[in-house]
Amino acid sequence: MTILSKQIRNAASLLLQGKLVALPTETVYGLAGNALSDQAVASIYATKSRPQFNPLIVHVSGIEEAYHYGTFSENALSLARHFWPGPLTLVLPRRIDCKLSLLVSAGLDTVAIRVPAHPLAQALLHECHLPLAAPSANRSGKVSPTLAAHVKEELGSDVSLILDGGACIEGIESTVIDMTHNTPVLLRPGSISTTQINVHINDVIQMPSAKTPITSPGMLESHYAPHLPVRLNATDVQEDEALLAYGAPLPGAKLCYNLSAYSNIQQAAANLFHMLRSIDAQARQKGFKQIAVMRIPEDENENSLGIAINDRLKRAAAPRN
Ligand code: TXA
Ligand code: MG
Repeated sequence: MTILSKQIRNAASLLLQGKLVALPTETVYGLAGNALSDQAVASIYATKSRPQFNPLIVHVSGIEEAYHYGTFSENALSLARHFWPGPLTLVLPRRIDCKLSLLVSAGLDTVAIRVPAHPLAQALLHECHLPLAAPSANRSGKVSPTLAAHVKEELGSDVSLILDGGACIEGIESTVIDMTHNTPVLLRPGSISTTQINVHINDVIQMPSAKTPITSPGMLESHYAPHLPVRLNATDVQEDEALLAYGAPLPGAKLCYNLSAYSNIQQAAANLFHMLRSIDAQARQKGFKQIAVMRIPEDENENSLGIAINDRLKRAAAPRN
């Protein structure tokens, strides 16, 4: 048996005992627990200090498993067939006989499901035969982890095992769509764009309205927050600021990280969270007071990633509670 398959076995056995395991996905690292167990799901909320009203995503091995928990409309089925495994989360009506812990839904009659594409996540799901509730493996409101080292730094001994799958390829969390109404609603932008989604539904996806209740922490104002304040769309760098650049950096920065020197939006998404962490740590150590971020371009047709990155940055820059 290879070291990796030993670790997968070990992880599966810990999950069956109700323990928590950090696992890599193609988006970010998740803090996984048995989604059938109230006790395991409760300990996810406790470990993350996550508000109990923010429901969790349940990760399953494939569509057939998802059928046990959620009701699929024709549109939902079409999206699942096309984008799973992959970075797309569907919020579905919970089936009446759904055996998932009610805590994953945080009191709602819906459940968010996705099938992750990362080979280690897939291997673990197949080994443990459990649906896994897995929010991003960071403390609530903080920057999502894209390396095993980030999880270790932030959650340390609060998690029984961290499976190391290297750097997450996408680097930004899944696109979340509410499929419980006639018309699909985008709850969280991600790497799968609304344009791509519209191709596979008999409808046009809606943006959330002011009336949409806040059921996604992705929709809470302050989220993904580094310690230092963040200033967006910077066109200059002030004396006490570190610079998070995109493309050719602004002149005058004494500390600079570049999301992508060649303005490659995919590279920027993959770098976003780990650079936010690194620049935050270094800037604080060196006495800087703020992080200035250069403008990231958005163009729905060409790059929804720009929209997804700006969504995260806006929340990183939002006033903190
Ligand atoms: O890429 C991802 O989605 C990562 C990896 C680990 O899979 N997970 C992740 O989970 O980002 P989390 O918990 O950080 O974000 C889950 C999002 C939140 O915005 C949450 O409110 C929303 O999904 N969500 C979960 N269940 C929901 C439900 N029943 N209705 C509406 N939104 C829901
Ligand atoms: Mg999160």
